[in-house]
Amino acid sequence: MCGIVGYVGSGAPSARPEGVVMAGLARLEYRGYDSAGLAVVTEDPTHVDMAKKAGKLVNLGKELAEHPLRPGTAAIGHTRWATHGAPTDANAHPHLAADGRIAIIHNGIIENYSPLRAELRSEGVRFLSDTDTEVVGHMLAREVLAGHDLVHAMRLVAARLEGAFTLLAVDSHEPRVVVGARRNSPLVVGLGEGENFLGSDVVAFIEHTRTALELGQDEVVEITPDGVSVSDYAGNPIEREPYRIDWDSEAAQKGGFSTFMDKEIHDQPTAVADTLRGRIDEHGKLKLDEGLIADSVLNSIDKIVVIACGTAAYAGLVARYAIEHWTRIPVEVELAHEFRYRDPVVNVRTLVVALSQSGETMDTIMALRHAQQQGAPVIAIVNAQGSTIARESDAVLYTRAGPEIAVASTKAFLAQITAAYLLGIYLAELRGNKFPDEIRTLLAQLDEMPGKIQRVLDSAEPVRELARSLVDEGSVLFLGRHVGYPVALEGALKLKEIAYIHAEGFAAGELKHGPIALIDEGQPVFIILPSPRGRESLHSKVISNVQEVRARGARTFVIAEEGDTEAAEHAEQVFYVPASPVLMSPLLTVVPLQIFAHELASAKGLDVDQPRNLAKSVTVE
Ligand code: F6R
Repeated sequence: MCGIVGYVGSGAPSARPEGVVMAGLARLEYRGYDSAGLAVVTEDPTHVDMAKKAGKLVNLGKELAEHPLRPGTAAIGHTRWATHGAPTDANAHPHLAADGRIAIIHNGIIENYSPLRAELRSEGVRFLSDTDTEVVGHMLAREVLAGHDLVHAMRLVAARLEGAFTLLAVDSHEPRVVVGARRNSPLVVGLGEGENFLGSDVVAFIEHTRTALELGQDEVVEITPDGVSVSDYAGNPIEREPYRIDWDSEAAQKGGFSTFMDKEIHDQPTAVADTLRGRIDEHGKLKLDEGLIADSVLNSIDKIVVIACGTAAYAGLVARYAIEHWTRIPVEVELAHEFRYRDPVVNVRTLVVALSQSGETMDTIMALRHAQQQGAPVIAIVNAQGSTIARESDAVLYTRAGPEIAVASTKAFLAQITAAYLLGIYLAELRGNKFPDEIRTLLAQLDEMPGKIQRVLDSAEPVRELARSLVDEGSVLFLGRHVGYPVALEGALKLKEIAYIHAEGFAAGELKHGPIALIDEGQPVFIILPSPRGRESLHSKVISNVQEVRARGARTFVIAEEGDTEAAEHAEQVFYVPASPVLMSPLLTVVPLQIFAHELASAKGLDVDQPRNLAKSVTVE
């Protein structure tokens, strides 16, 4: 996790480096907010200026207002999600070395920091923090004091590190240089005119430039006002193609909503529409965004394994119902961190789908690498352009949800389901499981979903009222069946993570096998009721589940399809969503649950966008 920004400009020393870095940190704060800090390089060769503070970025802002730094030519900044060492001022980044000449910031974990620390200690180095990062600062100092320039020093040091890292460093002797290095952690370069940028994510600099390039694995970058040079750790130059960032900078702002999460919930019709747009070529074939998995390979697969974590894994669980139904290929959905360490059976005939919003979730990265080692083709469904998962997969289908800033995922969930459905439809057509007119019907059903999601958003006030009335609840349960089951899991996860209320999602059929013992007088239970239409509807079975919990005193809140006249007989309150084919319904039924969690957390006065203990992208295992 952790957010990283770097800037270098060609002008005279000014406030710009500090301003650019602070604005970038504000946009990256979703990556961690245990502390924040920045270092500014001035034209004073003796030391860089530095400020850092535990807590959110606002604390650093106050510190800078009270103790301004000198105008500078370059700057680096960091917002932290603590791994080694408590979230204190001392452990905040940057860390200084060589009496303040070198400043370093870091995202990731240096796994061999213990022996390196012992080595430095034996040379007389004194440490001021408990972090693994400080070790790197002192290693760099050792190299620059031996006469190497900063970029050379970074190459020598990075080659000795194990683990995951993005590192940025500055040296007061090189006032117009920022150096970065990466392994297993993201770093993007923003290309400007007479100035250049570095960021963990393009949102760090999107207001200044839309041209970016990605740094690959085990590469070092040096930015100056007029140039960017990339090399491997041995110093061999590497050519990287710049690309244009599609996201517009407005999309990374709140746009008048009270929170990013609220905005992102309201972005969902667009996120789904954009994910669908222009996907089918003139021959009716799915267009991937990058890479290619040959049709012959896709024709020969006998299993699909979706690897993902958290909300993305729930999107995978939803997609399983559809993909198996459409393609008759068995689909497994597995938490990436479990998959990786259980010797899973995957081979060249297993299509692995790595599902991730950030594209930087370390658990998912490790699982995808493991799958590739077994020879499995991997397709990524990711939101962040150029992210590690996108780069390392054989093919990419981007969800076009735009930047998701709130820690709790909403629009990415809907976009992930949509993209996974496209993949399922494509496989169904390729393998002859569906006739062309059936494919057209499925695509037309998907096309109708943005308008229907909008209708759910437009009629959400009763859900908000209910949320406000339940603000003192200690526990809420969610029940669903078939595709409603992962929706129940997702509804519970949203409530846990932003409202800090105990919440559980259950498969409704599992109730009588244990969880029903939890039901007591007044226990709020949300139930996702399937459509009553269709021959194989589970409607009556879920109605029985509603009755079972109601008979034991539960307060029942039901999400039902418009026109379901029976729902109201069994519920304290019903929230209706537009009628849709059962496999499309999760794109609608989850929305009231997202709104419920958002409203309840807001009514409790909690920080909805940055819930405690969490970070947006989990870049450590
Ligand atoms: C929950 C949430 C997390 C993420 C999970 C995977 O609201 O955001 O559960 O879904 O950490 O993240 P990505 O999709 O970036 O791999």
